[in-house]
Amino acid sequence: MNANAQHLRSSANKIYIGVALTPSAFSESNYKTIAGQEFNCLTAENEMKWDAVEGSRGNHNYNAGDQLVEFAHQNQMKVRGHTLIWHSQVPNWVQSLSKADIESTFKKHITDEMTHYKGKIYAWDVVNEVFEENGVLRNSIWHKNLGDNFVAEAFKIAHEVDPNAKLYINDYNIESKNAKSDGLYKLVSQLKAQGVPIHGVGFQSHFSVGAIPHDFASNLQRFSALGLDVAITELDIAMKLPSTPEKLSQQARDYASVFKDCLSVPRCVGVTIWGFTDKHSWIHGDALPWDSNYHPKPAVAAIEAVLKGH
Ligand code: G3I
Repeated sequence: MNANAQHLRSSANKIYIGVALTPSAFSESNYKTIAGQEFNCLTAENEMKWDAVEGSRGNHNYNAGDQLVEFAHQNQMKVRGHTLIWHSQVPNWVQSLSKADIESTFKKHITDEMTHYKGKIYAWDVVNEVFEENGVLRNSIWHKNLGDNFVAEAFKIAHEVDPNAKLYINDYNIESKNAKSDGLYKLVSQLKAQGVPIHGVGFQSHFSVGAIPHDFASNLQRFSALGLDVAITELDIAMKLPSTPEKLSQQARDYASVFKDCLSVPRCVGVTIWGFTDKHSWIHGDALPWDSNYHPKPAVAAIEAVLKGH
């Protein structure tokens, strides 16, 4: 790395710049160094999911999540908690419970995990991916057993446990105005009207090179006009491999455009990238700003220029 290079987090004055991390890569010094130098917010990529923290009933294991919280503390980073209620990564033991047991377990899980991390988490993704593509609530274990009201319930429970945490609903394919984001908009409007303690909407933003939605900023704006924070929570921009200089340039323009969209909306509080090196990414497609040898790709300078207002 160029010793004189500035770091993204020092250019990020108006918004936070976040990254999803895993402590399983902490043995690599480049990983820790770049993560701590460049970013001022972190999300646990997997370590705070239900299957990770309570794989068998009553046996909680917060070690990996705690390592991330400790890393954040050492590096003055905020922490986004991901995620309390999701249809995926639900441990097997929960899936075989009776309906009555599911309701109490739902409440206990939110309470246990948020109590463990109380005061250490800036924002929680309370519910994740609760919509189908057509804008109706997903037919998940939660919806089947608890009905439409499970979303409001989750927020009420969460707010009681940690009244200082910002509480988010988070989803993908909601970055444009479409049936799914319209369904989300309707639900969030209702929750706000009912006084449910919801504070933000997270737009995951798993994109492809050359395909950033043109109406992303105006869509962020309509949600923020409901009196909510909005955040980009899981940004990555995958290309069809092999990588070429042209695709890397387009990817850089795409990263820049997403950061510009966030900066154009006053209540867009931050952008989190879902990992930072192609060495550790859930998706095949060189989707992240650093390559698999930890070298910055053109996207890094493009993001920095936007953060600096150039
Ligand atoms: O930890 C186990 C390991 O013990 C085991 O040996 C190995 C064998 O497959 O699996 C490991 O767990 C994997 C875990 O990632 C950690 O690497 C799971 O199988 C794998 O399913 C899991 O994938 C994660 C996925 O969510 C499902 O939870 C991805 O890393 C993570 O990037 C992805 O993140 C999601 C967000 O939470 C929600 N939005 C979409 C996003 C991308 O899919």
